[in-house]
Parts: sequence; C-alpha cells; structure tokens
Amino acid sequence: MLVLGIETSCDETAAAVVESAGQRRLRLLSNVVASSVDLHAACGGVVPEIAARSHIEVVLPVIDEALKTAKADWDDIDTIAVTQGPGLLGSLLVGVLTARTLAIAKDKPLYAVNHVEAHVYASFLTEKADSKQLTDYSLSSEKPEFPILALIVSGGHTLLALFKDHFDYALLGQTKDDAVGEAFDKVAKILGLPYPGGPSVAQASQKGDPTSVKFPKAKLDNSFDFSFSGLKTAVLREAQRMAGKDYTFPSHKLPKALSASRKADLAASFQHIAAETLVDALAKATDEYKPKSVVIAGGVAANQYLRKLASKRVRPTPFYPDIALCTDNAAMIATLGYYRAKAGIKPNDPYKLAADPALSF
Ligand code: KG4
Ligand code: ZN
Repeated sequence: MLVLGIETSCDETAAAVVESAGQRRLRLLSNVVASSVDLHAACGGVVPEIAARSHIEVVLPVIDEALKTAKADWDDIDTIAVTQGPGLLGSLLVGVLTARTLAIAKDKPLYAVNHVEAHVYASFLTEKADSKQLTDYSLSSEKPEFPILALIVSGGHTLLALFKDHFDYALLGQTKDDAVGEAFDKVAKILGLPYPGGPSVAQASQKGDPTSVKFPKAKLDNSFDFSFSGLKTAVLREAQRMAGKDYTFPSHKLPKALSASRKADLAASFQHIAAETLVDALAKATDEYKPKSVVIAGGVAANQYLRKLASKRVRPTPFYPDIALCTDNAAMIATLGYYRAKAGIKPNDPYKLAADPALSF
C-alpha cells in the first residue's frame, strides 16, 4: 500500500510517500519539506498570514516533488492522509482543501490525521528507499511496541501519553502554560539568538556551563504535568541581573549587554533544567506504567542534550525519530494514515472534512 501524506499545520509545507512492505515493515519513499521559516525570521516568530500564503504557493509543487522522488504516479497511490489539526486555521485549510480536492479528482480514500498523535508515528518507519534525497536519514529497523509511553515535545505541545494500542491512548499529563519548544524560542529571543530558537539555544549551550545558573524546576500537583513559563521568566530575570538593568522585555538592548559566554551559560543552564524536567517525568512514568517502549517525538526531540540525558536515565532506552522526522513533516502523517487505513477505519468524507485548529489529542 502507498500512502501520500500532506502536512500544512504551521510554517512547513510538507508531502511524503510511505509504502507498507510486508506485515511489519514500513518504508519511507520520499519526504519533502518546504519551510517559510526565512520569511518569518525577520519577525522573530511565525506570522499566520505569511504561512498560509506560502502554503498556497508551494503545496502542489511539494506534492509533485514527493511523488517524483518516490517514483510514484497517481495510479500507484492508494490513500491520501492529511493533517486535520491542531494548528493555524489558515495553514490547515490549505492542506485540507488540497487533500480533499485530490481525493475527489483522483478517486482516493482520504484519512484525516491528528498532528500531535502523528509525531509519535514518525518512529514507526523501519526503512527507506535507496534515494539520494534520503541519504542522510537514519531509521531504526525496530518498531516501538505497545504499550508505548510517549513524550511529545514541540513548539505547540508538551505532553506525556500512554499508547496502549493504535488509537487507544490515555493522556497522563501536559503543560499548564508554555510548550517546551515555545520556552526554547522565548529564551532565544531574550538572549538575542536567531529564530527558530530551539536549534540556536542548543548551539549556544555547547559553549556554556549547564550548572552555572541554578534555575528552578516547576512543582505541580500531578507529577506528569509540566510548566515552563516560570523557567522562561527566571531566565529573563537572571539575564537582567547579569546586565545590571531591567530592560523591559522584549528589548534589543538586553542581549547586547550580555557577553557571549554569559549567553552560553544562560542557554546551557536553561536547556539543562528543561531537559531534566522532561526526563524526571518520563523516568517516573516508566516506573509506574512499565511500558514496552518509550518514544520521544516532536521538534524538541531533535535536542541532543535531551537525548543524551534520556538515554542515560530512562529504561527502556527511548526511540527517537531521525532528526528530519522530529520537526514537522508529512512522513509521520502518511504513516498514521497508513495505520488508520490498515485498521479498516472508515475514510473521511472528502466533500465534508473540515480543518480543526483546536483538534484535541
Ligand atoms: O514539532 P515542531 O516542528 O512543530 C510543532 O508542532 O510545534 O516543533 C518545533 C519546535 C520549535 O519550538 C523549535 O524551537 C523546537 O521544536 N526545536 C528544538 C530543536 N529543534 C527544534 N528545540 C530544542 N532543541 C532543538 N535542537
Ligand atoms: Zn509538530
């Protein structure tokens, strides 16, 4: 079975083709991602109108490229899967309307997919086609096994869930305020590091001492819930203390008043506490729920410091999707679509499917 996935929930326009190869194998044939990140960088964050307009311009060429790389034509495609939500309404609309139109025109079943759930499914891909585009991808030939404890950490979400089986999962905890990726992005802004913040905070941290500033860890009633807004504020206060002046945030003057080594120490100390907070909850949940597998997914799962800490402290050792499959992509959408089709779930109505920006997990 060949599944075409389409993803447009935020600022990445993505299409991918995934093929089932026997009972237990899932092969990635193509993964195309066009990002409008450069257009947003000047504004220091995603501008919804710019993202939506950019999706309209590139969605069809991105799908064409995904089919071409997969060496597939429309006759080969069995199913279309698309992100229904959560995400930005204008962005989601472009993907959903494109997928609906293609499903009708090409007479293919259409599956709507939850973006947050799909992040976990990136780790179900077990192999890749022999294609130049996929040379740098490294995929584990092992699949996670149920029950799976999943930590989903992205720019919009931070949650811990127990997947008992496909489509049967329980939410154990989630963030009460900022998502952890959002905290990385805001700390980058405080320190004057380039957008997107996650990778630039990680990079700055390499030259810093993670124990130099003792930031607080949030304590919540449910030990599987998270809170990152206090940590972000603590970074701002410490930066202001080091600068010796309370520049009102956001201020371009604050980063200029900090030396590169102080920025590196602040970045490293923040990253250390953020990663420890996530790993504390994950380790506690593995003790309590004894999962067969652990998966860390979403954009922040690309963070090497988090990976190192989790690999040291969490058993069973977590699965991490390939870096390119941690941040938003359509391979994860096609993979979850494949499992929905395989389970015999009724396809969505291509004349009716509506984007849902607040689609719940
Ligand atoms: O999953 P994703 O691409 O989009 C959402 O669904 O939100 O995640 C994006 C988030 C951003 O906040 C970005 O700063 C963060 O993931 N991120 C990272 C790293 N790479 C991306 N955070 C920490 N370290 C990284 N290396
Ligand atoms: Zn995402």
